[in-house]
Amino acid sequence: MKDAPLCVIGAGMAGLCTAIAAAPRPVLLLSRGDHALDCASALAQGGLAAAVGCDDSPDLHATDTLTAGAGDNDRKAVEWLTGSAPGTVTWLESLGIDFDHDQVGYLLAREGGHSRDRVLHLGGDASGSRLVGHLSHVAQKASHIVWKQGCDVDALGLAQDRVVSVRWRQRQKCHATACSAVVLAGGSVAGAFLDTTHPCSSDGAALMLALKAGASGRDLHYIQFHPTALFAQSAADSRMRLITEALRGAGAVLRDHRGHRFMLELHRDGELAPRDVCARGVWQAQLRDGWAWLHAEHLKIDWNRQFPTVLRTCLEAGVDPRKQALPIGVAAHYQVGGLACDLDGHTSVQGVFAVGEIASSGVHGANRLASNSLLEAATAGRRLGQMLSGLTPGPVPEAEHWVERGAPASGDQLACLRQMVQQYLGPLRDASEIRRGLQLVDEGGPLSGRWQAQLLAAIMRSALADPCSRGVHWWRGCTPSQQSVTA
Ligand code: SIN
Repeated sequence: MKDAPLCVIGAGMAGLCTAIAAAPRPVLLLSRGDHALDCASALAQGGLAAAVGCDDSPDLHATDTLTAGAGDNDRKAVEWLTGSAPGTVTWLESLGIDFDHDQVGYLLAREGGHSRDRVLHLGGDASGSRLVGHLSHVAQKASHIVWKQGCDVDALGLAQDRVVSVRWRQRQKCHATACSAVVLAGGSVAGAFLDTTHPCSSDGAALMLALKAGASGRDLHYIQFHPTALFAQSAADSRMRLITEALRGAGAVLRDHRGHRFMLELHRDGELAPRDVCARGVWQAQLRDGWAWLHAEHLKIDWNRQFPTVLRTCLEAGVDPRKQALPIGVAAHYQVGGLACDLDGHTSVQGVFAVGEIASSGVHGANRLASNSLLEAATAGRRLGQMLSGLTPGPVPEAEHWVERGAPASGDQLACLRQMVQQYLGPLRDASEIRRGLQLVDEGGPLSGRWQAQLLAAIMRSALADPCSRGVHWWRGCTPSQQSVTA
């Protein structure tokens, strides 16, 4: 028996906030990326939603969150999140974060589904990289945190049904570390799609490990698609480049190949409809024409100050948003479902906590409101870190047995699985197609021994068990008023 640190797996916004808030508790922070900005949070452009404007309130923020979530949210969780948001902003500022402001106050942006201007940014659309960059400095300087990068955690050690150790690999070396608790902050499966705004490391590895250890999933099939990802993939990776919703907040409009502004007939808020509505509108245009167009040429904005990331990204891809329309399409962007947990991050497995995108506490319902993700990551991370810092550290027993994530797919198998995720779990789903897909990845199939295929099967099963169109989960030809899918 020996004293053991807290192990935080994942160093995006949620993992960093948890680790920082856990002081003075010793923390072992394990991240997959080789450098601090190698995570999905660093790619966020939208910012952090909080009711800090004088015409706003946590109640209005809660109403918008519930509306976007199609009422499938846990109301108490939503009220906690929106009520805590101004305090989260103050906490981040106490760590040195300097949100964009002028002499009068914060510069607040509007995004889809928000009834007020309430999204705080850093460096315009560079919010994610600035936040993660700054917090990673705080974590690197913190004496209670030991941070190891380039690590893959592939097994959990259990003693008497409690997780007490993690096994991790770094540069071919295998390590086992006893820990007093394990915090999973490892992000989502969105990077497993062919069209994604996430890095490929967002492949659901931590989620699968937890499911193998017996943790309960909730709404694994709730996967949010972003309506405006640039159709120009870089040579360096297959990720589509996010074009922030804030650009539509500033007046950019969507048109199809005929120049028709299709969102106006799909929702009274047009291009600022909740994200799932916009994503389905764009997807329908894509099915007809291959892609849709985002027009921002007419905007009178300071591109270098407000949208430096979009401008740079587009220019790198050979299109100038100041002069021409952008070819865009839908891309997997966020896993709304995940590991079932309460607001303190407790999962159904003792000793395992979940926070950030991997967690499903009921806050987002069936569709996350824009810019509530960095907010949730920071707010829940801070809460969990503070809660764990208050636990009395003590000895933990040796692991009696290990639960492994399982064998990974080969390169060819991964390419095949990416096609399948895209085909079967996109923004408009079809029960018979998903059943066909399930046969290909389920027990006995050539891919069935690979953990990525097992995760895909779990998500497909979760989708089939939910025959109703709701939020991000939409069956082809089945609107909520005519629920008729027999899954
Ligand atoms: C965006 O900037 O459009 C993304 C914001 C988010 O995912 O919340």
